[in-house]
Amino acid sequence: MNIHTYEKFWLAAAMALIVGFILTITYGTVGIGVAMVDDSGETINPENINDHPKFSSPGVEQVGENEYDVYIQVVQFAFLPTEVEVPANSTVNLHLTSRDVIHSYSVVGTNANTMVIPGEVAEVTVNVDEPKEYGVICTEYCGSGHHNMEGKLTVVP
Ligand code: CUA
Repeated sequence: MNIHTYEKFWLAAAMALIVGFILTITYGTVGIGVAMVDDSGETINPENINDHPKFSSPGVEQVGENEYDVYIQVVQFAFLPTEVEVPANSTVNLHLTSRDVIHSYSVVGTNANTMVIPGEVAEVTVNVDEPKEYGVICTEYCGSGHHNMEGKLTVVP
């Protein structure tokens, strides 16, 4: 090999690395599949959350053979409900809104992650495969109890 060939090799290696990074960022992750943010942008008055047909009794609802809608209220400093259980190999449509300040709903170890803004409904779809327990945290600083915000997303057999 002469110098020129080495240069070509490293150029190719650098390109492969960049493409790899982009693929990683775009497609994420093992366990929970590709998360898609839906910008349909439904709005909601934070003071009327308890009048909303779904958010008033948040939780999991089956909407298709392998599809579930999940409604979660986020407040200082909790996810309501704290724990969500969904069956393996299903599509899970998360709907989230905040009653007070900006939070996030971030499923640890996956790319399922969304800001939760008062007045807006955040929607994230995740495809879950194998049974597993995921931690959920808030990654937006939201006050003194920020670091205590913990939830759970459990994929059950
Ligand atoms: Cu909620 Cu940080």
